Amino acid sequence: MRIASLLILVLFFACNSATPTKKGPPYPIQKQLVTDNAMVVTAHPLASEVGLEILKAGGNAVDAAIAVNFTLAVVYPRAGNIGGGGFMIVRDKDGKTEALDFREKAPKAAFRDMYLDNNGEVVEGLSRNGTLAVGVPGVVDGMVNAHKKFGKLPWHKLLEPAIKLAVGGFLITEQEADVFNEFQGAFKENNRHQPAIVNDADWQPNDQFIQKELARTLMLIKDKGVAGFYEGPTAKLIIEEMKASNGIITHDDLKSYESVWRTPVFFDYDEYRLVSMPPPSSGGITLAQMLAMVEPYDLKALGFQSSKSVHLMAEAERRAYADRAEHLGDADFYKVPQQKLVAEAYASQRMSNFSPQKAGKSEETVAGKFSESEETTHFSIVDKDGNAVSLTTTLNSNFGSKTVVKGAGFFLNNEMDDFSAKPGVPNQFGLVGNEANAVEPEKRMLSSMTPTIIEKNGELFMVVGTPGGSTIITSVFQVFLNVAEFGLPLKEAVHNKRFHHQWLPDKIFVEENTLSPEVVKELENLGHVVEKRDYIGRVEAILRLPNGKLEGVADDRGDDSASGY
Ligand code: GLY
Repeated sequence: MRIASLLILVLFFACNSATPTKKGPPYPIQKQLVTDNAMVVTAHPLASEVGLEILKAGGNAVDAAIAVNFTLAVVYPRAGNIGGGGFMIVRDKDGKTEALDFREKAPKAAFRDMYLDNNGEVVEGLSRNGTLAVGVPGVVDGMVNAHKKFGKLPWHKLLEPAIKLAVGGFLITEQEADVFNEFQGAFKENNRHQPAIVNDADWQPNDQFIQKELARTLMLIKDKGVAGFYEGPTAKLIIEEMKASNGIITHDDLKSYESVWRTPVFFDYDEYRLVSMPPPSSGGITLAQMLAMVEPYDLKALGFQSSKSVHLMAEAERRAYADRAEHLGDADFYKVPQQKLVAEAYASQRMSNFSPQKAGKSEETVAGKFSESEETTHFSIVDKDGNAVSLTTTLNSNFGSKTVVKGAGFFLNNEMDDFSAKPGVPNQFGLVGNEANAVEPEKRMLSSMTPTIIEKNGELFMVVGTPGGSTIITSVFQVFLNVAEFGLPLKEAVHNKRFHHQWLPDKIFVEENTLSPEVVKELENLGHVVEKRDYIGRVEAILRLPNGKLEGVADDRGDDSASGY
């Protein structure tokens, strides 16, 4: 009955051609919600509704996460995906935690200097565009792995909502229409066929988006699980795509891909315990470092977004990102000094040269520029029993490599750009790296994704995460501190403007209207360079309130929406 009502909902959205209005979103978007039982917060209202209906149908938080993930591949193709990878933190109702790594891997034929020319210089765009930029996708294996360990509902039920939306289509929002239109040139340039997303007339809000090829691929995954993607017709189409250009992924790469359960990074901050992602993500370690560096200070007394608190937090960010560049990479390939980096003694040693009166100086080196594409997507789920999932997934850039697998209808990632193509040369996020994150066959590229679950005095407190490339970690850092230190209600903690420092370039980036002109002046007087940029992160957070209810907040920087009951 509940699944039936979901299908009716999906069909309503899919077929409601009687809503020709070009104004406003074609479905309700809920930015804040308080519920008694369960909550789903995602980047797309349809995905949040799918998650809710799975929970109402008796699924647990992991079932809902799987269904949401496949649905986002349909309704949020700029970042939701089956051709990319991601990370998931699970905390079950008894407090047991797990981390699932379904990050992409370098193909076996990859090698250290593959993005350099004969002079040893990075070939601009080679790690970002076309099929040479594609890492071996991990999402489908990850979802199957998660289902085997935690799933309650049958696998096929978790694929059905996404398939319905791909076959029947759905009405796109104004923001989606704008993004689809912005990338039409890139889609045409990077495809030898006309994928469903290519539209010679501009996309308009409330246009219906139908993806029949993607639906066929999802049906194969529904019927055959891992083999529906890494073998058979889908694998054949991926390899044809590789052969049609300069891609190097082989059938062997696809067949040997495996997602991995890892021990999360745990760290304490006052009465809170944070559970986050270990390498190959830098998220957990870098977040732990930044929090350990600011913990000895009375942030609340320094004031929310005052020059004093922003200076302190930016200096912690500078130091942690410098360590990230040097020390972090795939721990299966490189000895990451994890314990040392997250130790309190190390944090105080790193902050020993911190001066409240003066900005530090990042090394003089090639300064990176931010690209506009920081697309990844995060969702947070809590079910009625208190099981929680924090999941971040990505194609890397908006629509990844922009290449849709011909006949299979999904975008391939361009995650290889998250490797350090050459020491000291920034990637699209301006991040520099070193030996730890050099390209090697079958290695996972370093990520910033920071799916996080926070306990307070041993009980579930918050589920949080965000997209945003290099700004992911600093966004989670700020949202947590906004609640835990500055005492902001969750809505303000998430919706408030954010700032970001990542060591190089040596600047504090701020969203428009984050800091008052006086605070900017004070920071400049300390020696900081403050630069405006577009939005930082799109946080999806759930807070367990003292009365046991759940508060979900979806970021107001997009169509993000909360659903619950
Ligand atoms: N592709 C962005 C990240 O993994 O950090």
